[in-house]
Amino acid sequence: MKIRGTTRVLGIVGRPVAHSLSPAMQNAALDALGLEYVYVPFPVEPEYLGAAVEGLRRIGVWGFNVTIPHKTAIIPFLDRITREAELAGAVNTVYREGELFVGHNTDGIGFLASLRHDLNREPAGSTVLLLGAGGAARAALAVLAAGGASRIIIANRTVERGEALADRFGSLFASVRFDVCSLEGGEVSAALRSADLLVNTTSVGMNGTEFANLPLSEMGPHGAVYDMVYVPAETPLLAAARERGLACANGTGMLAGQGEAAFELWTGHRAPRNIMKRKLFEELGGSTKS
Ligand code: ATR
Repeated sequence: MKIRGTTRVLGIVGRPVAHSLSPAMQNAALDALGLEYVYVPFPVEPEYLGAAVEGLRRIGVWGFNVTIPHKTAIIPFLDRITREAELAGAVNTVYREGELFVGHNTDGIGFLASLRHDLNREPAGSTVLLLGAGGAARAALAVLAAGGASRIIIANRTVERGEALADRFGSLFASVRFDVCSLEGGEVSAALRSADLLVNTTSVGMNGTEFANLPLSEMGPHGAVYDMVYVPAETPLLAAARERGLACANGTGMLAGQGEAAFELWTGHRAPRNIMKRKLFEELGGSTKS
C-alpha cells in the first residue's frame, strides 16, 4: 500500500491496543479493495481520552474503533451516538458526519451476522439463555430482541445487573419475555432446558477459566452454543458443547462481523467477503475455515 497526502487515517483507540487484531484485519480488507486508507493503533490512557478524541478530530482522522477500557467513557466526548450505541451503552465505532464525530456500535450486528453465518440460527421465535450483563450482553440483547426472540433469560453472576438489563430491555421490547436467573443452583439448569440458544458474553473461558455450574446436558439436542470468547478458539464451554453434539461457534465471526460493519460505514464499500475472518484465523494461528 502506498501512503500519500490523500490517504485517510483510520484506527483503534484503547489501552492496551498492542494485541488488537483490528489493524491486521482492517488493513487486509483495505488492501484487498485497493482503498486509500490506513488503519493504525492509538494507545490512549484513560485520563487523556478527551484530549485524544479532540486531537483525532483536529488532525482529520476519518474514523476509528474504540476498545477496552474506553467504550463507555468515550460517549461524553462525541457529538452524538446512534440508537445501537445507546442500547449497548457502549461505542465501538466512531465515524464522521461532516465535522461531527458519531458514536456507533457494530458489536450487535457482528454477533447477528455470525449467528446466521456460523450457526445458521435466527433469533426469531427462539428462547435464548444469555450469560452476562455487561456491554457485550447489551449489544447482543438489542439484536436478539429486535430480531424477534420470544424469550430471553439473562443469567449473571451479579443478579441485580441482570435484573436492571431485563427491566430496561423489557420496557423497550414489549413482545419479548425477559427473565433473570442466577448462575448458581438449579435455576440455570431449568433455563438450559428451555433454551434453543446459549450465548456467553462474559470473559469466562479466557485463560482456561470455566463456569462452575453450567450443566449442558440439560440442553436439548437441537440447542446451539455461541461463545463470544475467541482465545482460546475452543473454550471449555465450547468443548463441552461439541462433545454433546450441539452446534457451536466462537467469537471470531463476531469480531470479523463488527469490523466489516465499521469498514462499510467508513469507506462506503462492502467489506470483501471473508477477508477479515481469514486474516483473524491466520493471526490466531487457526484454520482458514470459511
Ligand atoms: P463487557 O463490556 O465485555 O461485557 P463488562 O461490562 O465488564 O464487560 O462485563 C463483564 C461480564 O462478565 C459481566 O456480566 C460479569 O459479571 P458481573 O456482572 O457479575 O461482574 C461477567 N464476568 C466476569 N468474570 C466472571 C466470572 N469469573 N464469573 C462469572 N461472570 C463473570
